[in-house]
Formats: sequence, C-alpha cells, structure tokens
Amino acid sequence: METKIFQPNQIDEAAAAIQAGELVAFPTETVYGLGADATNEAAVKQVYLAKGRPSDNPLIVHVTGEDTVKQYAQPLSAKAEALIKTFWPGPLTLIFELQPGKLSKAVTGGLTTAAFRNPDNQVTLDLIKAAGVPLVGPSANTSGKPSPTLAKHVYHDLNGKIAGILDDGPTKVGVESTVLDMSTEIPTILRPGGVTEEQLEAVIGTVRSNHHKVGKGEIPKAPGMKYKHYAPNAQVTIVDDEADWPAALAWAAQQDGTIGVMALDRTLASEDLPANTEPFSLGADMDSASHLLFAGLRHYDLESPVTGILAQGFAAEGLGAAYMNRLNKSAGQQHFTK
Ligand code: TXA
Ligand code: MG
Repeated sequence: METKIFQPNQIDEAAAAIQAGELVAFPTETVYGLGADATNEAAVKQVYLAKGRPSDNPLIVHVTGEDTVKQYAQPLSAKAEALIKTFWPGPLTLIFELQPGKLSKAVTGGLTTAAFRNPDNQVTLDLIKAAGVPLVGPSANTSGKPSPTLAKHVYHDLNGKIAGILDDGPTKVGVESTVLDMSTEIPTILRPGGVTEEQLEAVIGTVRSNHHKVGKGEIPKAPGMKYKHYAPNAQVTIVDDEADWPAALAWAAQQDGTIGVMALDRTLASEDLPANTEPFSLGADMDSASHLLFAGLRHYDLESPVTGILAQGFAAEGLGAAYMNRLNKSAGQQHFTK
C-alpha cells in the first residue's frame, strides 16, 4: 500500500478512509497522531500493529469538545469542567473513569479509564467532524522513535503501513500534550507537556506529579512511560550546565565520527565548534527548544547521520519539565560529566 499525502482541502477523502476502517495520520498542535475510528475495534488494533506498539499501552481519544467525552465518561467533576473550559482545545489530555462497556479494550488497554483530548488544529477538528467519530491517536511514529513534528517524519516511519497522512505543515508546540489523571483523588500529572503544572494549579489548585523516574518494581501509572522512548540512532548525551560546553566539545573533538550538537543559538554562537561537529539550532529559548527537539533528533537520523549527539539541558521547570522529560528518555538518562 502506497501511503497517500492528503492536503487540507482533501479532508473528505481522509474522512472516508477513516470511515472505511483505515489509518490516517493527522496534524495536531503538539505532534502528528496516528488516527483510526475509536469505535472500530479492528481499526484500532491496526494502530498497534503499524506502530509496533505494545498492546497494553492505551490510546488517547481525540474529540471536538466535551459533548463526546460525556457520551463515554462518568459525569465530569467541577474541576474537570474548569480545565476543559480553560485549556480546550489545546495540549491537555484528561483521563476519566468510563461508563462500563463504552470503549473497546483495544482503546483502553483493559483499564476502566480512558484519555481524552481536544486538539487545537482546525484541519483535524474538521476531519473528526467529517468522519463523525472520535479518533484514537498515539503519536504517529514507530514505537520508540521520536514523535513526528512534520509529515515527512510520519512518512519515513509508516509509509506503506497506513492509508494516508493529512499534511498541515510543522506542528506548533513540538512536545506531546500534558496527561492529567482526573480519576485520582488529587489530579495527577502522568506526563508533563504543553500545559504546565503551574498553569493547571492556577485553575484547580494542587496537582500531583507522577512522571518522575519509575523505580525498579514500581508500576508506572501511564503504561507508555515504561518503554524506551524518543531514541534516535546515535547515543544522546545531555549537557546540563552551560559552563560544561567547552569540556563537552573537547570530548567531541576526540571522537572518530561526527558529533551532533543541539543547542540554543546563543550557545552555538559563543562556543568554538570542532570541525567534526554538526550543529542543530534549538532557536532562541525554551519555547523554540521544545518545538524543535524532536525535529533535531530526527534530523540526525534522516539527513545528517552522526555517531553521537550532545544536547542542551535546561531546568525542569515550566515547559522545561516537558522538554527534559523527553530529552532524558532519548538519552537513556545519560548526562555529560567532566
Ligand atoms: O500530544 C499528544 O498527546 C499526542 C497527539 C497525537 O495528540 N498523542 C500522544 O499519544 O502522545 P501517545 O499514545 O503517544 O501517548 C499517550 C500517553 C501514553 O503514555 C499512554 O500510556 C497514556 O498517555 N495513557 C493513555 N490512556 C491512558 C489511561 N487511561 N491511563 C493512563 N495513561 C494513559
Ligand atoms: Mg508516543
């Protein structure tokens, strides 16, 4: 099967494929998702096969608003209503207890809860409306690879395995949505993302975080958090402290192959880059760094092969929490030490 690229004016064709039980990748403000009809169990099962995703890792259900959530979930709390009002459409995924039997096991991974998200992308909202069904949508990458922020990333991983890709250019946020579990007494962040802990607390008061490293023998609450993730072909090493760049680059200069250097413009401009390094700019600040992180990791896989990657680390605060969560996973927690 040759994977078709649909333009935003071909939403009807993409919706017809979804209705026929086929898979179509769709754009969101965070990353591209791998779409299938959430009410069609056979189609949902194909999503796991195409991604090579373990079947106990549940999927997010993408909706155009809270009305659809109410068809599936238990009655929403006042806090849930407030979050939806403030952050939807946007990069916040909410987990609710379900009404029994409303969504297939393929979607929930056998849990009694499900994750819902209203993405902030008009093309995809139109697609969901045209298809007339909510869409499951894990990130549209091969399991373990960086999430796709461009249609060509999806094409690279999934060409021949899915019916189409709806191309709406680069995604805006670049890291996935914040996953907030509303089924616990105190709402719990399972994955940091585009909406920060501070922003959530400003609306509903105290939230807990459960996205820190899972210890041996502990069961992670979001099943997806236990797998190796976001890993490019080359080993990533995080440079946490700006003062360590000279030493890190001296290490790079001694390596045999080419070393990728992912850093902010001001860092790239202020350091002497050895001849065997290949820079990738993360832009001017934390926002652009989050936006460009996956694209940078993919750049070294697709366009500019390297034998190792040095990547700039930041304080895990605000959007930095989402950035460092992804970067730590892609590096397998490897940090540069002198
Ligand atoms: O920004 C995003 O969220 C993107 C775009 C496409 O919407 N989607 C995305 O989906 O990142 P995925 O499947 O790659 O990540 C969803 C995460 C996984 O870690 C999964 O384990 C967790 O959410 N999750 C889903 N349903 C859950 C549930 N009922 N309980 C706990 N965790 C759940
Ligand atoms: Mg993913």
